[in-house]
Amino acid sequence: MRSDGAIRRLTLSAPCENRFVLTRYPIVAESDHEIQNPTSEEKLVLLGRRLRLGPESRVLDIASGRGGPALVLARTFGCRIDGIEIAPEFHAVAVDRAKERALSKLVSFRLGDALREELAPGEYDAALCLGASFVYGSLADTVETLMPAVKPGGHVVVGEPFWRRHPLPDDYEDRGAPFTTLTDTVVIFETSGLPVVSVIASSEDDWDRYETLHWRACEEWLAANPDNPDVPLVRSRHERSKRTYLRHGREYLGWAIFVGWKPKPDDAP
Ligand SMILES: C[S@@+](CC[C@H](N)C(=O)[O-])C[C@H]1O[C@@H](n2cnc3c(N)ncnc32)[C@H](O)[C@@H]1O
Repeated sequence: MRSDGAIRRLTLSAPCENRFVLTRYPIVAESDHEIQNPTSEEKLVLLGRRLRLGPESRVLDIASGRGGPALVLARTFGCRIDGIEIAPEFHAVAVDRAKERALSKLVSFRLGDALREELAPGEYDAALCLGASFVYGSLADTVETLMPAVKPGGHVVVGEPFWRRHPLPDDYEDRGAPFTTLTDTVVIFETSGLPVVSVIASSEDDWDRYETLHWRACEEWLAANPDNPDVPLVRSRHERSKRTYLRHGREYLGWAIFVGWKPKPDDAP
């Protein structure tokens, strides 16, 4: 997720009784997204190959959204996937899509706050968190939380933004976002004891597809709902996000899927 997207998630998530509740903007802006991150079906298939997924594999998908990545992996590799998603609007789409695609036997989508889920130790071959490390506070917290849920020899997979280069322009509105360089993102994984064994980065096409789907969804929703009380919020977030992407995000912000490998005890250095 690029910076204005990630910041959008951070700033649009309001603490409420210790829970984070999404506001209307992401629900509107991502209403047409198959995959809610700047990546593609082809790259998710590549991810599945790198993870060596097969019919015996079990995968956890934290913040599974509208089900895009889970459905691609289940259909391609026949693996079983447990998704957890907090937004009822996104969760409902994921459940419907799984039924439409006859994948409900392989995927289960649970509605809930991933932060409150108890993850059984060593249950999964891979634990994914694509574009949602804010759920646990930070990338380091995400890696630390997911690592115990993965079997030795399995993988922790996080989709995360990074800065392509420094210094960031003074007028870049997202310059305070909690991201670091590509190298330091890998260091965060490796400091937790997981060597990074694959990086699958977003292309400019991935970014443009992901970003401009927001633009179309927002413009169509604003035109169709002029009297909705959420119009000012959706309009201002849409305009900010578009401006930030065009001015600086496209040049300075990267996003990649990082794959960390959990060594078996005998393999550990
Ligand atoms: C960038 S989207 C990514 C969705 C999906 N991983 C994908 O790649 O298509 C981030 C998702 O995190 C979900 N989310 C935010 N906070 C959450 C939480 N505490 N527990 C579960 N899901 C959460 C949002 O509702 C949203 O669907």
